Amino acid sequence: MKDLLRTADLSRADVELLLQTAAEFAVDPLKASTALAHRTVAIYMTKPSTRTRLASETAVAHLGGTPIFIRGDDLQLGRGETISDTARIISGYADALIVRTYAQSDVNELGKSASIPVINALTDDDHPTQLLADWLTIREVFGKEIGGRKFTYLGDGNNMSHAWLIMGAIMGAHVVTATPEGKWAPDPAVVAQAKTIAAGTGATIEVIHDPEVGAKDASVLYTDVWMSMGDPESERQAKTRVLAPFAVDGRLMSMTAPDSIFMHCLPAHRGEEVAAEVIDGAKSVVWREALHRRTTIQALLFHLVRGDIQGNL
Ligand code: CP
Ligand code: NVA
Repeated sequence: MKDLLRTADLSRADVELLLQTAAEFAVDPLKASTALAHRTVAIYMTKPSTRTRLASETAVAHLGGTPIFIRGDDLQLGRGETISDTARIISGYADALIVRTYAQSDVNELGKSASIPVINALTDDDHPTQLLADWLTIREVFGKEIGGRKFTYLGDGNNMSHAWLIMGAIMGAHVVTATPEGKWAPDPAVVAQAKTIAAGTGATIEVIHDPEVGAKDASVLYTDVWMSMGDPESERQAKTRVLAPFAVDGRLMSMTAPDSIFMHCLPAHRGEEVAAEVIDGAKSVVWREALHRRTTIQALLFHLVRGDIQGNL
C-alpha cells in the first residue's frame, strides 16, 4: 500500500504492526533516528491544526528527516494549478506528503497523482491517523483482550464518528455510535462499510440515537466537537440544541463500566460536548492520547516509506 487515504485502507495486521512500532517509539523516540536522514516530508494543511501538525513535524524530526510545512494558500493550487501537477512537483522534492483538507476526493486525487506516500491528516469524512493514537491508548489501558468491552462514540456523526466505526470494525470490537438521527448521524455508506468489515473480523457495529444506551456499561466514552472545521456557522444554534443530550457529563460517565475511560481527539470545548469534570477528571486519558499522535504518525511514516504496509486488499 502506497498511501493512507482512509481508515478502511488498513488491515488488522497493518494496525498491529503500527501499534507495535509506535509503542517502541513511545519508549525510545530516537530508535530509528536515521530512517529519514536526508529526506523531507511535506505537510500541507488547509485547515488549522495543533496536534497533528506538531505530531507530524516532531515525528519527522525524530526519524532524522526534515519537515516542510505548507499552509493552505501558500501553494499555486489556490490560483488554479491542478492537484495532479502539484502532486507531481511535491513528489519530486519530498519523500512523503501529509495532507489535511476539506474534500476526501482531493486527498484521493493527490494519492493517485503523487509517486510518494500520501497520508490523510483529516478530511471532512475521515481522520485515520487519530484512530491509530486512540487505539494505542486503548491497547495500553485495556490490553489486547477486548472481548465483552463496548466502545462508544457520542455526539456528531462526523469524520471522527466514521473513523471510530471503521477502526473498531477492523479491530474486531463492539463499537457504538450514539448520535442524533438524520443530518447529524454518520454517513450510511460508512456504516455499511463498517458492517462489511465487521463481518470478517467478528466486530459488532451499533448505530443508535440514545446517549444513555450508548453510555451504559461502556469501557470507552469518546466524543468530539459539535462544530467541525468547515461546518456552516448558520447551523450552530440548531446543531447545539440537537446535540445537547449527547454532552458527556458526570451523569453519563457514571453509567459506564467501573474501569471506563474518557477519550476525545481534541480540541475540546468544556461546557459543550464535554463537562470540565469529565475531561479534567480521573477517567480522562486525553493527554496521553494526544501525545500518542506523534508516536503513531512516526510509526506510520517509518513503515509507509519502507513499503511495509500491506493494506486492506
Ligand atoms: N486531534 C487533532 O487532529 O487535533 P488538531 O486538529 O489540533 O490537529
Ligand atoms: N471533527 C473535528 C475533528 C478535529 C480534530 C473537525 O473536523 O474539526
